[in-house]
Amino acid sequence: MKNSNDTFKKIISHAKEYGFIFQSSEIYDGLSAVYDYGHNGVELKNNLKKYWWASMVQMEDNIVGLDSSILMHPKTWKASGHIDAFNDPLIDNKDSKLRYRADVLIEDYILKIESKINKEIKKAEKKYGLEFDEKEFLNTNSRVIDYQKKIDEIKLKMKKYFQLDDLVSIKKLIDELEIKDPVSGSSNWTDIKQFNLMFSTSIGASSDSASEIFLRPETAQGIFVNFLNVQKSARKKIPFGIAQIGKAFRNEIVARQFIFRMREFEQMEMQFFVKPGKQKHWYEKWKEKRMKWHLSLGISKENYRFHNHEKLAHYADSACDIEFNFPFGFKELEGIHSRTDFDLKLHEEFSGKKLRYYDNEINESYVPYVVETSIGLDRMFLAILSSSYNEEELENNTSRVVLKIPPFLAPYKLAVLPLVKKDGLSKFAKKLFSALKLKYNVTYDEKDAIGRRYRRQDSIGTPICITVDHETLIDGSVTVRNRDTMLQNRVKIEDLNDNIDPLVNMSAFL
Ligand code: GAP
Repeated sequence: MKNSNDTFKKIISHAKEYGFIFQSSEIYDGLSAVYDYGHNGVELKNNLKKYWWASMVQMEDNIVGLDSSILMHPKTWKASGHIDAFNDPLIDNKDSKLRYRADVLIEDYILKIESKINKEIKKAEKKYGLEFDEKEFLNTNSRVIDYQKKIDEIKLKMKKYFQLDDLVSIKKLIDELEIKDPVSGSSNWTDIKQFNLMFSTSIGASSDSASEIFLRPETAQGIFVNFLNVQKSARKKIPFGIAQIGKAFRNEIVARQFIFRMREFEQMEMQFFVKPGKQKHWYEKWKEKRMKWHLSLGISKENYRFHNHEKLAHYADSACDIEFNFPFGFKELEGIHSRTDFDLKLHEEFSGKKLRYYDNEINESYVPYVVETSIGLDRMFLAILSSSYNEEELENNTSRVVLKIPPFLAPYKLAVLPLVKKDGLSKFAKKLFSALKLKYNVTYDEKDAIGRRYRRQDSIGTPICITVDHETLIDGSVTVRNRDTMLQNRVKIEDLNDNIDPLVNMSAFL
């Protein structure tokens, strides 16, 4: 996995050059933290949505879909706590003038201590070889014990101060730990202030009658307010889930790292409604299932890890992230939250309508508890793009950039290429292209030498190239080239489907 700034820059420019991602409103110098998806980007993004939807809705007997609106009654956000509590604790460095999230600064500090522990382990491993017992080392090495003690103390303080919303003590903690701005290297910090992340606009024709509404900061609330509509119309019994994919908006202050942190982004969320008391069981189950889903994409498992939240969101009784090893290090890709009955209860209170489930088995009605899985589609896109980007030196002193995207997610599954335009090869290839189009997303290219065309397909991650040549006209066979191995096979046209399908058909991976 690449970890350098340089590689990240290359990935960003590759994404632009090959029509994956453009800066929004670029001709006006762009809009910060807002991006557009180009012709290849939209295909990859749609495939990611399809894969998530197939796994979370189609393949799950007790989950159904929803597509709720972005604009919601303003009381929704009062009830959900977003008006009062959807804040980031922000702190400015007076020297660099850069703004940071206070919790992130402290968490990064903890990560640094953790990496010191890892270094000690590596050193000891080298020294003691096969005799090395990591557990014993962690329990007995005085330096490691001190590091761990420090981490535990910081985590405890952080948890307490954030629960009490005690910004003064958090600032004191940053001062005590002598946390420095990674850019200016100074500890010259302002006080911490809460900043609400919701975008507001107004609804109504005239300024008198207009009222303030918000662009949703998460898709989840559309699911909560529709809980009974869906439960009754789909005749679902608890436990069951509602899933949706849609846009969310946050006025992020620390907006950087390309599509990692955007102001307009897409979420793929699922709320799983369970009997009160069963939430721990389902929380663990969904943690396991979601990690399995990630691993099914074939990216090596060292690139994923769980991270338990120290600072719980205002609605959660336990929460963790699945973190991914992005080019800038491990960061949150997906959140799994046990949201209790917080949302449904507050919507009951604010709307005056009951949001209860009548449980036939116990002849009782109750407000269900909720376990949520929430993944950013754009972050998932970045995870795929960055892990699939490869620069390879080839045997003949040339090189290639290849996107080793999981084949079933690739923008195009196949490229049909006539070896040359003349001798009827184009005509034959176009016919084959038209036939394959019915089943796969296929591209056609007849411009430039065949080698250059292979490189172009490698650059956008097309898993298979099919070349039509003079032999094709004689025996009805084509060359099938594999993107990753670059190996070429001769295959009869009537056998193409059997060759291609196992590699590119999504259903084989569900
Ligand atoms: N409904 C719960 C919720 O919204 P979250 O942890 O705030 O929880 C869920 O967000 C996921 O949405 C994150 O794990 C991340 O993948 C994605 N996400 C959040 N903010 C984002 C942003 N500004 N840009 C891109 N993706 C974002």
